[in-house]
Amino acid sequence: MTVIDELGTLQQEALAALADAAELAALAEWKTKYSGKAGALTRLSRGLGALPVEQRPEVGRRVNLVREQLDAAYADAEERLKRAALNAELAADRIDVTMPGRAPAIGYTHLTTQVIAQVQAIFAEMGFQLGESPEVELDSFNFGLLNFADDHPARDMQDTFYVEMPEGAPSVLLRTHTSNAQIHAMRRFAPNPVRVLVPGKCYRNEQVTARSEMQFFQFEFLAVGRQITMGDLKGTLGYFAERMFGPNTKVRLRPSFFPFTEPSAELDVSCFLCAGKGCRICKYTGWLEIGGCGMVHPNVLRNGGYDPALFSGFAGGFGPERIALLKYGITDIRNFYNGDLRFVEQFG
Ligand code: DAH
Repeated sequence: MTVIDELGTLQQEALAALADAAELAALAEWKTKYSGKAGALTRLSRGLGALPVEQRPEVGRRVNLVREQLDAAYADAEERLKRAALNAELAADRIDVTMPGRAPAIGYTHLTTQVIAQVQAIFAEMGFQLGESPEVELDSFNFGLLNFADDHPARDMQDTFYVEMPEGAPSVLLRTHTSNAQIHAMRRFAPNPVRVLVPGKCYRNEQVTARSEMQFFQFEFLAVGRQITMGDLKGTLGYFAERMFGPNTKVRLRPSFFPFTEPSAELDVSCFLCAGKGCRICKYTGWLEIGGCGMVHPNVLRNGGYDPALFSGFAGGFGPERIALLKYGITDIRNFYNGDLRFVEQFG
């Protein structure tokens, strides 16, 4: 067989193998076998030196021709197989529109928000309208106008977050309680009677631990009118407690002190977990402390624009987180603000 014949056989065989190649991996093998450095074609062309001189140019030309053809055929085969691979991938990726859809993730109402909504609904039943007061507040509304003495310890930087203000500007702080709402509500409605409930975020400069947070919610309730008495306060709280904690819940007022109320009281409700029998949560007293309340101090009435000789009122404040804490036996108050969905989802 002449070299030319061998070349022809090689070419046919190589082209047939290329046509048979069904995947890209087979192409690499093909290259090694036929057109690569150690392939059959290279081996043939190395044998050129052994040919008679006059045959060499012709055979050389033929070798080059075959190489060009094989290279072109290889490029075609490569493109064909690449396209086939892509098509297979697209087919596998096809969206089956008949498959059932994925359910969208559902949001949850935060436990604090739930308690706030309940409290608002109960006070609305008693004719309290919803009010607002600023979260970033003048010192005077948070303290001074509420009858706090200038040297009251709550005004200490240790307890209150103050806003840095330019020289000479009035003192501004993050409200430490929602009682600031009292002055705003009275000034808005005086000399007419008023009944408001004001929920809001409060801040105190506390070390954050399992038992204390530097941020929390409060509710302020305030009623001002003619001949409002402590009996009205107790009746209001009794209704609230029964609606919030269950029909047999009792209310107890213990004498206390707040600068803005006189007399002042701590508000206890009979333990709704053990029905007053005594348990771990109420520390075996049968009572749970919920908040503070009292009759609006004459100075505060006056600062709000009412004549204390003609008007009286009651006010109180308590925290929804504390209620939730007690109700669900939550032991770490930081859960309310750490944004952990596992906490929120439990109450969804
Ligand atoms: N502001 C008080 C606090 O943060 C709670 C409070 C007590 C509010 C007595 C009142 C009240 O309106 O009369 O601890």
